[in-house]
Amino acid sequence: MEIIHVSAECYPVAKAGGLGDVVGALPKYQCKAGHIAKVVMPMYRTKFLYENEWTVDFKGSANLGNWFFEYTIIKEATNKLGFDLFLVDINGLLDRQKIYGYDDDTERFTAFQIAVVSWMNSWEHQPDVVHCHDHHTGLIPFMMQYCYDFSRLQGVPTVFTIHNGQYQGWMGWDKSRYIPRWDLWKRGMLDWADNINPLASGVKCATKVTTVSWSYMLELRYNSNGLEKLFEFEQGKCVGILNGIDNEVWDPKTDKYLTHHFSAKEVTKGKQQNKKVLCEQFGLNPGKPLFVFIGRLVGEKAADILPDAIMSSIHHTQGQANFLILGSGDTQVEWQFQQMIAPFQGMFNAVIGYDETLSHKMYAGADFLLMPSRVEPCGLNQMYAMRYGTVPIVRSTGGLQDTVVDMGDTDGFGIRFNEASIYDVDYSIGRAVSVYADQKHMEKMRKHMMQIDHSWESTVDEYTQVYASLK
Ligand code: ADP
Ligand code: GLC
Repeated sequence: MEIIHVSAECYPVAKAGGLGDVVGALPKYQCKAGHIAKVVMPMYRTKFLYENEWTVDFKGSANLGNWFFEYTIIKEATNKLGFDLFLVDINGLLDRQKIYGYDDDTERFTAFQIAVVSWMNSWEHQPDVVHCHDHHTGLIPFMMQYCYDFSRLQGVPTVFTIHNGQYQGWMGWDKSRYIPRWDLWKRGMLDWADNINPLASGVKCATKVTTVSWSYMLELRYNSNGLEKLFEFEQGKCVGILNGIDNEVWDPKTDKYLTHHFSAKEVTKGKQQNKKVLCEQFGLNPGKPLFVFIGRLVGEKAADILPDAIMSSIHHTQGQANFLILGSGDTQVEWQFQQMIAPFQGMFNAVIGYDETLSHKMYAGADFLLMPSRVEPCGLNQMYAMRYGTVPIVRSTGGLQDTVVDMGDTDGFGIRFNEASIYDVDYSIGRAVSVYADQKHMEKMRKHMMQIDHSWESTVDEYTQVYASLK
């Protein structure tokens, strides 16, 4: 099958979070399974762009409302990622340093979607499926079906994957002029609560909808930032497929970012070596359990409760634990973490920012990974942690609930709690400190986790089945 993935992120080209990881890996494994999977994304000014070779594949033009623009589709020349990668260049609009966060993001991503659809409409053949990811690509199923200029694509099936239902890309109806000539009777297919809602439109117009875990699929019906009724109504075409992880990128035996490699067999020694390096770098004590948090410092991840929960744990465990934070986001949370560095020197440190190398070192060197998320559609961090023998401490929600079994249950290896509260996090850290004292038990859990298979190889089939059901 020929599958066209359309996304705002794709690792290693541009990544802000798990969406990038998924779109950088799923197509590669689809190609390995015999499909022709391709990725189309905006051309940002990233390191990857300057370090690789490109050929011009297509030049076209389109309109965003009254604004006429030209776009160029460039293709990575060497199949470096294991699939064909196409970037859409729209001069002045997409070619910026960051992926998101500009005042004109609505215009940027709407123009991007128009360019992608207009380009696909010019092809002599038709792909088997267009697979869109998150709200930045949510208008594509509508445009393919109801825009007169793209009528050649009308019969092409679409899949819309929701990685995060909290962000929906709302825009006022005044912006409907951006969408190329469309069937006005279909206004309802764009609308939710008197706004154009690209995420809702994607759900309404795509042939099939998937989310990135089974539990999140159910959760969306009672917690989806206003779209609960829509998910209730559309449940017949929605499927939950748990994300996989790229075992080639995330492998403690070969990881290019690690100084000490290890397999499940020598996990205790391997982790201790990595922990030592990390602790030396951040002034922590390798003799104590090391707890880490890696991620966006936002409400969804419940990062706001961590400063108090950590201080409370340091108090309750009488300094028997180390903590290391890596992330950026809410300035208030960033500030709180920075304020904790000096008073808790030797047991707490934080790096505010984004650092791919350090994240790998932390998965490898930590004993426990904290994920108190309020919302977690899938969560990749806990799966990376498991692959590196790090015990995940998670709130029971979404994909965390689907991947982590509490150590008190049969074959358990992690720690689960119910509330995103200081008390629950503090209590769970207490449980972790106790189990850490039993190194034999720790080793057993580590070995067990490292053998769990979350590879894309075993997940690709589930997407193939979805595509096959579209005809
Ligand atoms: P989300 O996509 O909601 O942020 P996921 O758990 O799916 O959460 O994926 C997060 C991805 O981003 C992981 O690969 C994680 O290692 C990475 N990540 C998040 N924050 C940082 C950071 N500050 N530095 C490096 N990597 C990060
Ligand atoms: C989103 C979700 C995260 C998920 C990722 C990849 O960013 O917040 O839980 O793992 O997408 O699907």
